[in-house]
Amino acid sequence: MQLLQDRFGRVAADLRVSLTDRCNLRCSYCMPAEGLDWLPDETQLTDDEVVHLVRIGVEHLGIREVRFTGGEPLVRRGLVDIVRRTAALGPEVSLTTNGLGLARTAQALADAGLTRVNVSLDTVRPETFATITRRDRFHDVVAGLKAAADAGLGPVKVNAVLLRGVNDDQAPELLDWCLARGYTLRFIEQMPLDAQHGWQRSEMVTADEILASLQAAFQLAPASEPRGSAPAELWTVDGGPGTVGVIASVTRPFCGDCDRVRLTADGQVRNCLFAREESDLRSALRAGASDVEIAERWVAAVRGKRAGHGIDDPSFLQPDRPMSAIGG
Ligand code: GTP
Ligand code: 5AD
Ligand code: SF4
Repeated sequence: MQLLQDRFGRVAADLRVSLTDRCNLRCSYCMPAEGLDWLPDETQLTDDEVVHLVRIGVEHLGIREVRFTGGEPLVRRGLVDIVRRTAALGPEVSLTTNGLGLARTAQALADAGLTRVNVSLDTVRPETFATITRRDRFHDVVAGLKAAADAGLGPVKVNAVLLRGVNDDQAPELLDWCLARGYTLRFIEQMPLDAQHGWQRSEMVTADEILASLQAAFQLAPASEPRGSAPAELWTVDGGPGTVGVIASVTRPFCGDCDRVRLTADGQVRNCLFAREESDLRSALRAGASDVEIAERWVAAVRGKRAGHGIDDPSFLQPDRPMSAIGG
């Protein structure tokens, strides 16, 4: 077995697969109200192609975890079957979702072999939810979270992005809400990956600000468990057992410990969220390349990974593909 090792010695064993670039919400920090020019159907990997590429990753390249993302992965019709076939290959299988429709599918996903789910929820006020997502679907997400926990897809994690002047005063109430329900809340610093290219560092709510606002309401202490390659720094809340996390991709980058590699819905390997190049596995697959040839391409793609995202470099350029087409 070859490993997906880059020039800095990092080994990618965590594969994040975007199953679609489409989404049924329109979060203002992600895409415009009218949506985007979605990937044409014929460029998207079929269910069989997804499973084929994941199998190459698992059997030839040491992939041990697979996370399905989007856009919104629950809008992909074949999701439960893709999860079942992926889990049968052996890796741990998880999902990052906005939670819409999760109430209907959580049990089927758990039965198919999904073990964990991370749900995006930026506020527990229905009106703020509608403002941020441009859809009045707060209660669907709440039902999805509950169904996921009931199906044993846990501990369920909640991902929240704070936006200045919109929900940046809501961190403590979001944490209270999650603690009461047994969900692990993590706040995410906003990254320059929006389709509109409107991200400004000065507008971003930083990890320091998030922690200060939480510390006004709770006692936080650094969690003792080792962080490993996880993006979140964890704190215990009021002596535990509850915790809260901060994913400080911008102000405290964790690229040195990165163990991720990404596959887009149209079959391109990206070695980083912020990668400038992609490697086209879809065309190779459709041209009849062997598994070994595809694995070689994949190895070469990871070898070219840069040391870090470089957001602070004067020469930083936001990638053309937005977050919704890369996978969160
Ligand atoms: P687990 O820790 O395994 O539960 O998953 P995760 O936190 O890696 O996955 P999730 O999809 O919930 O990611 C949460 C957020 O972390 C994403 O929305 C991104 O904002 C951020 N994130 C995930 N992966 C990366 C990464 O490779 N680099 C950076 N900079 N941020 C990431
Ligand atoms: N920066 C950080 N996180 C983002 N997400 C979407 N866009 C961004 C961004 N620009 C988050 C969503 C969701 C996860 C998949 O990614 O809120 O929690
Ligand atoms: Fe890994 Fe790139 Fe994310 Fe840094 S920004 S943690 S290198 S994927």
